[in-house]
Amino acid sequence: MSFTGLRSVVLCLGLLALPALAADKSTAPYLHATEGRAVERKPTLLQMLVAALKPKSVHAAETAHRPRVRHVATAARKRKASPAAAAMEPAVAPPTTVGAAATPPAPLSEADPAAKGLALFNDVSLSDGGKASCATCHFSTGHTNNKTYVGLDVVADGDPNGRNTPTLWGVGERSVFGWAGQAATLEDSIRGIIVNRMKGPEPSKEKLAALVAYVRTLNYPANWQVKDDGTPRDDASAAVKRGYELYIGDGGCGTCHVLPSFDKKSRDDIGTGGKFKVPTLHAVASTAPYFHDGRTASLRDAVKLMWEVYAKKMDSRLPTDAELDDLTAYVGAL
Ligand code: HEC
Ligand code: HEC
Repeated sequence: MSFTGLRSVVLCLGLLALPALAADKSTAPYLHATEGRAVERKPTLLQMLVAALKPKSVHAAETAHRPRVRHVATAARKRKASPAAAAMEPAVAPPTTVGAAATPPAPLSEADPAAKGLALFNDVSLSDGGKASCATCHFSTGHTNNKTYVGLDVVADGDPNGRNTPTLWGVGERSVFGWAGQAATLEDSIRGIIVNRMKGPEPSKEKLAALVAYVRTLNYPANWQVKDDGTPRDDASAAVKRGYELYIGDGGCGTCHVLPSFDKKSRDDIGTGGKFKVPTLHAVASTAPYFHDGRTASLRDAVKLMWEVYAKKMDSRLPTDAELDDLTAYVGAL
């Protein structure tokens, strides 16, 4: 409840309690009554007020969340259907603020395997003991919950056995799956997660196909700073433009995170504890913490670490603070 809301409730209760207060002069002025006191004096009225207020706020929370879920999926489908149309769309804010849907998206058709896939994505019976659904870690939008796991248990970021939840946005465009690139197809990747991580029953071919169809609908939100080929738009910020030059130039990032997908099929040992795939950098601004084990909380620190890795490998120079800011601006805009 807001402070103003609380104050009016207290005030209202106080007014109702006036006769009682008038009789008992030893009580502190009613306007300063604490919530606890108010509850003691008029429990039924407070309960009524709480009851009257509650459904409203629960409803608000639900509606605040739901359209966002659908909007992302719809934006993704729209974008896939017509990249040209997507490019014409008005500027859309980065992933974290994608919520404001102007038009309600059309519901998925029942016959659409992706619709079946969405239902399965939220189905806890895929896990042993109904402990989790895909959406527990990827939300129904397919994005990451920003947590690091061993199995279904959240562990500290940076735990060497931990694996940070990747976003599933754009997953259909990736060539290998899992941080170590252990799965060659989406089917293998999802089957492995159900059987090994969720300890659920062996999924049928149909269930796997439906889940694959659903996650393939989850594309990246439209980007207002960077074009599909990875180059900055004309109206991108100056920092993003300078950052791009460093990305393809002295930073050496483009040798591994190759444009336009920003990933690479091969696996590399960059000194983080083994060989890992070169992950895409699309939407990376909202996928913290970074690296397979979530060892780095800030994107700037992740970018810094990567430049150091490259400089050591190539015996080349390190960035200035201003260059790090620019490169982080570009990477954060992807
Ligand atoms: C307990 C949290 C959790 C649950 C539940 C979960 N995932 Fe994941 N998901 C992860 C983590 C962590 C990874 C990275 C795994 C790795 O590298 O070995 C991942 C990786 C993936 C990948 C590979 C993405 C990539 O870019 O490499 C796909 C696809 C995926 N999950 C889909 C699903 C689906 C579909 C479900 C439900 C059947 C699901 N996940 C359930 C946490 C979870
Ligand atoms: C030699 C190849 C290579 C080069 C060069 C390289 N990277 Fe990476 N990058 C990787 C690999 C491999 C990982 C994943 C390592 C892990 O998960 O432990 C990674 C991870 C990252 C991540 C974390 C992504 C996430 O989702 O958590 C960021 C950010 C990143 N790189 C940015 C950069 C930038 C910026 C540059 C240039 C300064 C760069 N990289 C240069 C191979 C490379």
